[in-house]
Amino acid sequence: MRVILVTGANKGLGLAVARAVLVAAPDTVVLLGCRDLVRGEVAVHQLETELGCQDRLLALQLDVTSQESVAAAADWTRKRFTSLAGLVNNAGATYLESARAVMEVNYFGAARVCEAFIPLLEDAGRIVNISSFGAQSHVENCSKAAQRLLSDPATPLEEVEARLLWPFLEIADNPDLDRQAKATGIARLDLVPPIPYPPIEVDGQPADWKEYIYGAYSLAKVCLNCLTLNLAKKYPRIGINACEPGVFKSDLSLSTLDKIGLKLEDFQDKLGPAATPSVVVARLLLEAGIGSGNLFGSDGLRSPLYRTRNPGEPEYDGTLPSIF
Ligand SMILES: NC(=O)c1ccc[n+]([C@@H]2O[C@H](COP(=O)([O-])OP(=O)(O)OC[C@H]3O[C@@H](n4cnc5c(N)ncnc54)[C@H](OP(=O)(O)O)[C@@H]3O)[C@@H](O)[C@H]2O)c1
Repeated sequence: MRVILVTGANKGLGLAVARAVLVAAPDTVVLLGCRDLVRGEVAVHQLETELGCQDRLLALQLDVTSQESVAAAADWTRKRFTSLAGLVNNAGATYLESARAVMEVNYFGAARVCEAFIPLLEDAGRIVNISSFGAQSHVENCSKAAQRLLSDPATPLEEVEARLLWPFLEIADNPDLDRQAKATGIARLDLVPPIPYPPIEVDGQPADWKEYIYGAYSLAKVCLNCLTLNLAKKYPRIGINACEPGVFKSDLSLSTLDKIGLKLEDFQDKLGPAATPSVVVARLLLEAGIGSGNLFGSDGLRSPLYRTRNPGEPEYDGTLPSIF
């Protein structure tokens, strides 16, 4: 049996990925990583009733922001199954109490889970990191040099953290700065665009980095994309890719769009059901010849890290942006 772990799998895309994997591969056991085990058990019951897949589905307590929880989950998985065939870093959140908290779920959490579970991954095992088009939009609005740096597999993760992540957090979560000072300070960083994506209006004016907590989400996904490239280089025995799932209806998307005054319909080019990217993620986990170190769109084709690519547009050919 192939064992596959999906984080944040009690609902939304994570649950859809679990369903897609169970349907596509009868020889798999899926571990539903859930920070709340009760919500996880409800999801297990729901999928078992729907698919009749008893004994192939287990809820596993896993809060990606807790080192203790991640270590315990890895330990339990090793003792129960010895190894893992696939891991999906899907857990995500947009608006939390601080920029650091947003980073903790979307970036540090995924990095923590990778570190704990990579030793369990079999040769030719797979990791899929769930990204967001917000990351590509962020990079697209930066300078050409920043676009190149943030999409080049040769860029060390430490450089991205030192030039982007730490300076951003220092400003965004600084209790001594008011919103305007934060907005101005963040806009001056060399790896951020002057206005975060998506363009938000506050008091009828285009918002700048005052909405920095949503900015933290896009920025966390930028770092997650860079983590994907770095890990793919570091672990050639594993296939490590990212997937940008488009826009679909979920608790996360509805609450986020409500907060920034947008609607799902405003993203017509990217909008689809969660089932579409879930099938792509299942392919990235199960199919041979997928490769490593790439970002895939919700249509299953490769996308660049430095600009958005909607379903139906040509596949990315791997060319990095020219800085000359
Ligand atoms: N929906 C979209 O349009 C869209 C677009 C681009 C990217 N994405 C990405 O898709 C992924 C799934 O999002 P979704 O839209 O399916 O949202 P969702 O339905 O709200 O699901 C989010 C999942 O993440 C879990 N989670 C949150 N914090 C966690 C933590 N600390 N530890 C473990 N799990 C945690 C949630 O658990 P609880 O139920 O306990 O809160 C839930 O299971 C995210 O990475 C998101 O960034 C979504």
